[in-house]
Amino acid sequence: AKTHHHTWNITYQYKSLDCFRKLAVAINGESPGPTIRATQGDTLVVTVHNMLDTENTAIHWHGIRQIGSPWADGTAGVTQCPILPGETFTYRFVVDRPGTYMYHAHYGMQRVAGLDGMLVVSVPDGVAEPFAYDGEHTVLLMDWWHQSVYEQAVGLASTPMVFVGEPKSLLINGRGVFNCSPPEANNGGGAACNAFGPECGWPTLFTAAPGKTYRLRIGSLTSLSSLSFEIEGHTMTVVEADGYYVTPVTVKNLFIYSGETYSVLITADQDPSRSYWAASNVVSRDPTKTAPGRAVVRYAAAGGGGGARSDDPRTPPPAGPRWNDTASRIAQSRSFAALPGHVEPPPARPDRVLLLLNTQDKIDNHTKWAINGISLSFPATPYLVAMKHNLHSEFDQRPPPDSYDHRSLNISQPPSPANLAVSHAAYRLAFGSVVDVVLQNTMIPSNRRSETHPWHLHGHDFWVLGYGEGKFVPEVDGPRLTNTAARGGAVMKNTVALHPMGWTAVRFRASNPGVWLFHCHLEAHVYMGMGVVFEEGVEMVSRLPASIMGCGRTKGHHY
Ligand code: C2O
Ligand code: CU
Repeated sequence: AKTHHHTWNITYQYKSLDCFRKLAVAINGESPGPTIRATQGDTLVVTVHNMLDTENTAIHWHGIRQIGSPWADGTAGVTQCPILPGETFTYRFVVDRPGTYMYHAHYGMQRVAGLDGMLVVSVPDGVAEPFAYDGEHTVLLMDWWHQSVYEQAVGLASTPMVFVGEPKSLLINGRGVFNCSPPEANNGGGAACNAFGPECGWPTLFTAAPGKTYRLRIGSLTSLSSLSFEIEGHTMTVVEADGYYVTPVTVKNLFIYSGETYSVLITADQDPSRSYWAASNVVSRDPTKTAPGRAVVRYAAAGGGGGARSDDPRTPPPAGPRWNDTASRIAQSRSFAALPGHVEPPPARPDRVLLLLNTQDKIDNHTKWAINGISLSFPATPYLVAMKHNLHSEFDQRPPPDSYDHRSLNISQPPSPANLAVSHAAYRLAFGSVVDVVLQNTMIPSNRRSETHPWHLHGHDFWVLGYGEGKFVPEVDGPRLTNTAARGGAVMKNTVALHPMGWTAVRFRASNPGVWLFHCHLEAHVYMGMGVVFEEGVEMVSRLPASIMGCGRTKGHHY
């Protein structure tokens, strides 16, 4: 196995990713950052110089379990102190599984400023994958705003809340084209609009040779949007989800939620004399304020002569499916099964079941998301440090509720939980135990909407046991989950969608010593408290590096 060293300078830069000039947080001048490549078993060493003058940072390796290195998970407030301006932090970890992963800032809402990228882990030489292809490309999907991250975050925390609004653009591999023509669109910032930098224009996704098959490694790091991704005129065969092989499923549209990755195979089997749109469309929220993201798939002239055709398609970009067709999204979520023989089947039954209800409420006049009444906020001393060093005053010692009153719950009219509070709470899990989590969605009473929430678990992969509509009824749905587990075929993932007005059940083994965030991957939602923290086996974690402890109670101490 190899060790790969990377040195990253993190700075603010003027960027016109969608032809509108604004500040982005860049890695060595680039936003999004470079695609990192490694082979299973390799070690990555990333030295991060925080050269932002006034902002902290921390970088999370999304989908990497950090076995034996929980302090390298990059989650400010949970696994480390933020990296202060002017400081340097080195992440060192092993990529123990092949697959398609991502990285992104995990400090405040900083991910939204463009500090993100993809991480591809290949199988070792000589190991065959269960499918074949002639070339591969990465596809990073994002949504994009024109106000700064500070404005977005302060707005969400204000009374009354100033919502971030719908995204201005959708980006594919960090590029898009914002339509500046309606005068209100450019906010009076005429100079910023149509600031055509070298990066402005619909990007080329890749150039295909006729008849060849390509693997696209697609990841979504949207802040708010659920997306449908498609390539005009072509179908896609899904073969991997979040680093695990799935039984191939052929789709026209791939629904992809923030925090998910997929590999799809696409064969260049269409008329090679023209090019085709790849498009991302907003689903689950009203898309009328956000134009589709686009990129161009070109065909190389047959016979090897000439280069790519330079013309963009003359067709309109695919309009995408109906945005509020929840049923077809649930159907696609349910259509994925583990490729037989490639995924360990789930344990037969759980040792502990957590029923987690999300509600949006006002707490001290601030609009917050809460899970079983608890809106998560991070302590001044990160959980990992506080728990490992038994600093009990640094986080809430009362365990958050394992459940809610599911008998009397009406998900269209959820009552405000009695114990509603903002807190530094954490679930402490028995080491090695099997934990089921059932996420229950509701309607937000103030606007009668129920949103899609993609939930991401740090430090583990989970088996997806099922998706349900309406209210989870333990007596009826519980036994069904047991049956699913027994049948096998449950996909393993690190991020799963909780669909509007439905529930999603996952199972995992709490066998990775450390402290791990489990949260909605919509940046605005986790910022408003939509997450929980799991601790398991923290006493087995070896001595913590001093570099994660420069804040809170351990600041300046020598351990
Ligand atoms: Cu990709 Cu905690 O996030
Ligand atoms: Cu959410």
